[in-house]
Amino acid sequence: MGGTPLSGEVTVRGAKNLVPKAMVAALLGSTPSTLRNVPDVVDVDIVSGLLKLHGVTVERTDGKLVMDPGAVDHAEPTAINVHAGSSRIPILMCGPLIHRLGSAFIPDLGGCKIGDRPIDFHLDALRQMGAKVRKETDGLYIDAPGGLRGTKIELSFPSVGATEQVLMSAVLAEGTTELRNAAVEPEIIDLICILQKMGAQITVHSNRVVRIEGVDSLTGFDHRALTDRLEAASWACAALATKGDITVIGAEQEPMMTFLNTYRKVGGRFDVNDGGDGSAKSIRFWHPGGPLNAIAIETDVAPGFQTDWQQPMVVALTQAEGLSIVHETVYENRLGFTEALNQMGARIQVYRECLGGSTCRFGQRNFQHSAVISGPAHLRGAELVIPDLRGGFSYLIAALAAEGESTLHGLELIYRGYENFLDKLTALNAKYDEL
Ligand code: EPZ
Repeated sequence: MGGTPLSGEVTVRGAKNLVPKAMVAALLGSTPSTLRNVPDVVDVDIVSGLLKLHGVTVERTDGKLVMDPGAVDHAEPTAINVHAGSSRIPILMCGPLIHRLGSAFIPDLGGCKIGDRPIDFHLDALRQMGAKVRKETDGLYIDAPGGLRGTKIELSFPSVGATEQVLMSAVLAEGTTELRNAAVEPEIIDLICILQKMGAQITVHSNRVVRIEGVDSLTGFDHRALTDRLEAASWACAALATKGDITVIGAEQEPMMTFLNTYRKVGGRFDVNDGGDGSAKSIRFWHPGGPLNAIAIETDVAPGFQTDWQQPMVVALTQAEGLSIVHETVYENRLGFTEALNQMGARIQVYRECLGGSTCRFGQRNFQHSAVISGPAHLRGAELVIPDLRGGFSYLIAALAAEGESTLHGLELIYRGYENFLDKLTALNAKYDEL
């Protein structure tokens, strides 16, 4: 039931876009690894299962994983296929498995339907490092009989996944790898910290150049995953959309800096507690009352406005006075969720043109990747089918901001990246029934 301001406290733990990669990095270690601040989300379950399929023991107590890769072995492709489901993580297991076993298998990948989600950058990088890729009906078989060799790789786009692919393939490769046009998201830097703890030699230069000197072996790691800045921002947008007041325990200012600037421009208020007084770090987000400001947003790779912040922010912008513009430059098809918002009474028009900023890769290619949002719009409850992880959370926010009752189908997509979100909604006085 919508119309009730969300107010109270929620705790956000480790980043959904770092923790699964850290788990894969454990395969590279010759001794066990410990990962802390681990959220209870489906993506962690999936990767735990994939590691166990490959002979890794995984012990899980609340918030902590201990992974022992002492007996890493091949797994049946069918079992990987079944277990990976829609997860894209198997592509990142290539480098570590090739180093341990000489080969790897990747099933046809899933993941959120927000664009084509190709893996050409990944396969090109592996081939340049000496791997051979064979396409079969059930997926890709990759092997490197002579091992992987360091080389110069330049990405045509600063892809997060491809950067992770190169990092986890180069750390044990023969010789040095120079990666140009690398992604530098906070989750990437956290993964580099993990690899450094394991004994890797990685230098991050300015201008997106990363150099990795291959070493002979790596130990396990003990690491506290950085907090999920994407979940924190989602709750911040919920506070704006419902005229509420939400304190996110665990949120940190630095990785959210660009989001905080935009939040303030829209008219949201925030207060950072950096834990200096010994209390837990947190950021309080609230709607100060009065109108919200329409703004122009262009998503970008780090340190720009993260594409995963876009969908929750669009819901908040339906409540802003005037015309807001969103130009999505990272994914070609990440505005489809706005159709359902229009059925609820929002007034959002999507365009093929690059609106509100520079031209991007999608400009002349028939992708509806810009939106104009006219507000404030009175949202009414509706029946909604969740399309993807962030779109799903955005529907949740819209339903809580709308007048009357909404029904959401496909909540399991939200469980992939938002830990215990129904308990958190209860803690924030949301009115809902789980059917
Ligand atoms: C990661 O996806 C995140 N997912 C995404 O978060 C995030 O939006 C994205 O990085 C960008 O920050 C995880 O970390 C699990 P990319 P990833 O490779 O690595 C194109 C969420 O909601 N591309 O940086 O798959 C691609 O199509 C999710 O938490 C190629 O063309 O993203 C896209 O247009 C959604 N070829 C662009 O690059 C490739 O081989 C960025 O993709 C790889 C990518």
